[in-house]
Amino acid sequence: MKKLIQPIVSLLIFTFLLSACRSPRPGDDIISLEKGWKIQKGDNPEWALPGYDASGWQSIDPHKTWETQLKSFSSYDGYAWYRINFIIPKELKDNAYFGDSLQISLGRVDDTEQTFLNGQLLGQNNVLFTDTSAVPGKFEGDSLAYSYYRKYVLPVDDPRLKWGKLNILAVRVHDHGGGGGITNPSPSVSMVDIKDYLAMNVHADPFELKGENYIKTIRLINGHHSEDFDGELTVRVTSNNDGSELYESTEQVIISAGEETQHMFTFSAPQTESYKVEYIYNIDGSVYPVYQVQGAPYILTPPAPDEPRINGPAIFGVRPGHPLLYTIPASGIRPMVFSSDTLPPGIMLDSTNGFLRGEIRKKGEYNITLTAANALGEDSKIFTIRVGDTIQLTPPMGWNSWNCWGLTVSDEKVRSSARAMVESGLVNYGWSFMNIDDGWEADERTRRGELLSNEKFPDMNALSDYIHGLGLKLGIYSSPGPLTCGGYLGSYKHEYTDARTWADWGIDYLKHDWCSYRLIAENETELEELQKPYIIMRNALDRVNRDIVYSLCQYGMGDVSSWGADVGGNLWRTTYDIVDTWESLTNIGFSQYKHSSHARPGGFNDPDMMIVGWVGWGPDLHPTRLTADEQYTHVSLWCLLSAPLLLGNDLSRLDDFTISLLTNNEVLEVNQDALCDQADRVYNQDSIQVWIKDMADGSKAVGFFNMDEELREISIPLGALGLDETYRVRDLWRQQDEANATDRINASVYPHGVYLVRMWPEN
Ligand code: GLA
Repeated sequence: MKKLIQPIVSLLIFTFLLSACRSPRPGDDIISLEKGWKIQKGDNPEWALPGYDASGWQSIDPHKTWETQLKSFSSYDGYAWYRINFIIPKELKDNAYFGDSLQISLGRVDDTEQTFLNGQLLGQNNVLFTDTSAVPGKFEGDSLAYSYYRKYVLPVDDPRLKWGKLNILAVRVHDHGGGGGITNPSPSVSMVDIKDYLAMNVHADPFELKGENYIKTIRLINGHHSEDFDGELTVRVTSNNDGSELYESTEQVIISAGEETQHMFTFSAPQTESYKVEYIYNIDGSVYPVYQVQGAPYILTPPAPDEPRINGPAIFGVRPGHPLLYTIPASGIRPMVFSSDTLPPGIMLDSTNGFLRGEIRKKGEYNITLTAANALGEDSKIFTIRVGDTIQLTPPMGWNSWNCWGLTVSDEKVRSSARAMVESGLVNYGWSFMNIDDGWEADERTRRGELLSNEKFPDMNALSDYIHGLGLKLGIYSSPGPLTCGGYLGSYKHEYTDARTWADWGIDYLKHDWCSYRLIAENETELEELQKPYIIMRNALDRVNRDIVYSLCQYGMGDVSSWGADVGGNLWRTTYDIVDTWESLTNIGFSQYKHSSHARPGGFNDPDMMIVGWVGWGPDLHPTRLTADEQYTHVSLWCLLSAPLLLGNDLSRLDDFTISLLTNNEVLEVNQDALCDQADRVYNQDSIQVWIKDMADGSKAVGFFNMDEELREISIPLGALGLDETYRVRDLWRQQDEANATDRINASVYPHGVYLVRMWPEN
């Protein structure tokens, strides 16, 4: 017996010692709020109170919008409350590195929110109220609030906190439109650790590619008011092909309280492969190292030849008697001379810049042969002008100001982007719309009810002349409601006047954004109510003597893809707003299979604007947070989807990678194909998705997407994709022929990357 007791006692002593001197480990310092949330539709101040019994409310997952999980919330916009109960153990404080503050993180909230802890208002829209007697006030109206990560940091002795006891968190949410509710990342309660004070900003500075070298700067910012940080910064670069290490450096880095330090490093590697770049800052005693990972840019596509090559679609639609402007997109060195065989009556071609202009009165199909010639050769292309009732026969390509400038857009920013569109050569690939999003409207209409531009846009006619003079087109933005999402004047009850104003200004494109129309609509779940304002604006646009591409923006409500074309839309947003993260890209892009049957010439599902290059939604921009592979995926998917290609980046800041990404003629041809089929997802297994789009010439464009974090060697039988012939295969990003596919497709696909091919049946 004694023999048995002794080891048990020693084990107990050992376990006691271990637990007594243990330092906190990941997980010990955090209370997960992933499970246990309840939701109730409506708005009632009593729902904040700790004594309120919410047990009868519906359960909800805080990672997804309420529309995507609760039937009773489908298409619901407006108020709802969330509640959750949790205990904050005292040990949380004792185990912490600092032990002075606690944070409550909610993830993102679509759109605006007020958060109450134990019945008292904690803050709203990411602003903490230090006054513990604050009372709820106005908290709507912030159109960007959906993108804020909500985090409330409280001193540990804040009277609203109950240590060792049950706490009740109540969140009052208002959804302005589209998706609503608390969404990713996961909500939690934790002590504020080093990682919360130490910001590692790897996105402020781009990778610079110089010869064989990659040069990169990252910034470390110590947000603590009194504590200096002394740790090790490690940077590691590994190949995504075989995991081999290309570079590693470690340095001791001291960052004084409140200071920022910058760290530059250089590694050399061929710029035609994918690399993972990891940054780790570690301080002894902290629970987590600060960690970030990025993908370095690399170029797959060979440069365009100097000889002329006519890019762009094979067909263009215009209404009879309406002004036509089409710039022949052609790559190759300048000067270039453009010519054509017989042009339809009323159309002129400017031989120096390739602008086709004029108007054609008679409906019909006009096939012409366009030619571009330079000192090295010439290229010809058969081009069809279809004069009829349908315009925008292939997806619009161009730029929109929102994802870069947000509400700070101005005349000068639109002009500089337009100049860059031309000077960078993007225009030579068919990128042509320059669309002004929200933020251009004046506060008041004229006495005759006309909409005016604000001081940032001094002369719309002059701007439109400038844009057209570059061979580009000008787009504008409004709302069917009294106000736009940004709080500017909308077109409600002024539709006909506004359409006329825009036509007078020479506008070519309108994005019409639901926004405050939710206050007018009687019932947002009724189809008729959803369609009504869009039909009114359609009728107004039909009265003007100008082709204005009509973009419906109402975030997909009421399954807009099934009726967007019926109300005269050329494109219709199928989703809430995109941001430059892999999560947002995948949630939006890879759910588009639901709408594939509705794309057609002149009518496209719109998964929102692009998130490559420098973006930011306001005055401060950063290079997209997507890795290079994620950007190849983004462009490939949007092309396969026949989606509008509207760049959302500052065009005056384009690097070689981004230009290459946006000027691959074979990839863009997939998007601009005249059939306008939208790819179907034909395979979705084990983190590999395959999407296939039918092309007008009988070939297939096929994207093999790797949703995994690791390189994947794929080998998929053609039969599993519904393909049953021998195919000639071409890798579209690398612009190289591959071995014929008879039985399977084999490829290595980078993490979050794509293998995009075009396959022609051999017989
Ligand atoms: C909504 C739209 C965005 C943008 C903003 C402008 O959020 O979805 O694309 O137009 O409004 O305020």
